[in-house]
Amino acid sequence: MEPIIRVEHLCKTFNVKGTTVDAAKDISFAIEKGDIFGIIGLSGAGKSTLVRCLNLLEQPTSGTVTVDGKSLTELSEKELRLTRRDIGMIFQHFNLLMQKSVLENVCFPMKITGVKKSEARARAMELLETVGLAEKANAYPAQLSGGQKQRVAIARVLANNPKILLCDEATSALDPQTTKSILSLLKSINETYGITIVVITHEMSVVQQICRHVAVLDNGTLAETGTVQELFHSPKTEAARKLILTGAEQIQRMSGEQLVRITFSGQSSFEPVVANLVLKYKTPVNIMFADTKDINGSAEGEMILQLPEVRETAEQMIRDLREKRLGVEVLTHYVG
Ligand SMILES: Nc1ncnc2c1ncn2[C@@H]1O[C@H](COP(=O)(O)OP(=O)(O)OP(=O)(O)O)[C@@H](O)[C@H]1O
Ligand SMILES: [Mg+2]
Repeated sequence: MEPIIRVEHLCKTFNVKGTTVDAAKDISFAIEKGDIFGIIGLSGAGKSTLVRCLNLLEQPTSGTVTVDGKSLTELSEKELRLTRRDIGMIFQHFNLLMQKSVLENVCFPMKITGVKKSEARARAMELLETVGLAEKANAYPAQLSGGQKQRVAIARVLANNPKILLCDEATSALDPQTTKSILSLLKSINETYGITIVVITHEMSVVQQICRHVAVLDNGTLAETGTVQELFHSPKTEAARKLILTGAEQIQRMSGEQLVRITFSGQSSFEPVVANLVLKYKTPVNIMFADTKDINGSAEGEMILQLPEVRETAEQMIRDLREKRLGVEVLTHYVG
């Protein structure tokens, strides 16, 4: 099946007062229909620029963006306007009309496309029901919490039946609990309506909670793409490692050296692994960190171990761990 979004050799250069910024450098990737696809990177990596190229809010300097079989840069004004209706977008700061009620906000895009007022109101009420905010229909945005405002924005973006929903840092202004509830709303929208969702974020936890595939951006380039599981178990690039290991870095500062990160999938457990190492080598191994995450429905474990200072023992242990088909990543490179 043809992917719903295909980006090929995309470049975007900004010229500001005689200097140039390469915000996107030769980026190519594809997003399958019905996927929840994450685009992650540090601040300034080029996430917003890339996502704005997906609906041509930003004109690429070169390269192509194909959405649902249509090459966006080749469309006429009118065709582009129609195609854009298929691509909804939500933002970090919600962008609601503050002088209008919740219901009027949700009706607004239907007003633009000429839907009859009574029909628009009925549909808006249904959508508010879907996002769990029907009782706030007559409230004004200023009277809502951040999470509620984002729910209104989601109801509004659904009004025109988009095929694709772009979310640029949609949960970055929200606390972790509210973030969770908004992400699970997005997930259920993906499942119910089959809308392809693109999630732009700087937080790995967001990607792990909802995405199936992910692209890592680093300073305008595409560092790597893959499933969220692949990224969790075996990040291939320094940029991906940095995003995965935010917690590990702190541990590293606290405890110095000899750290390895091991990961496992599914039902297997760490404990026998560590216990066996200790028994075999008769020397302690510190568990600095252990956690199990739900990564789109499957349990994935992560543990950071501090190995003995004796180099030969540590090297032996790492070989043993690698044989167990766990993800093994040496965080401090004291081993050759
Ligand atoms: N309109 C613009 N004019 C000039 N430079 C720009 C423009 N928009 C973005 N840039 C530059 O392009 C680079 C990428 O910016 P972008 O906003 O895409 O990053 P980002 O990954 O979304 O960052 P953040 O996480 O902070 O939102 C930055 O160096 C930025 O300064
Ligand atoms: Mg941004």
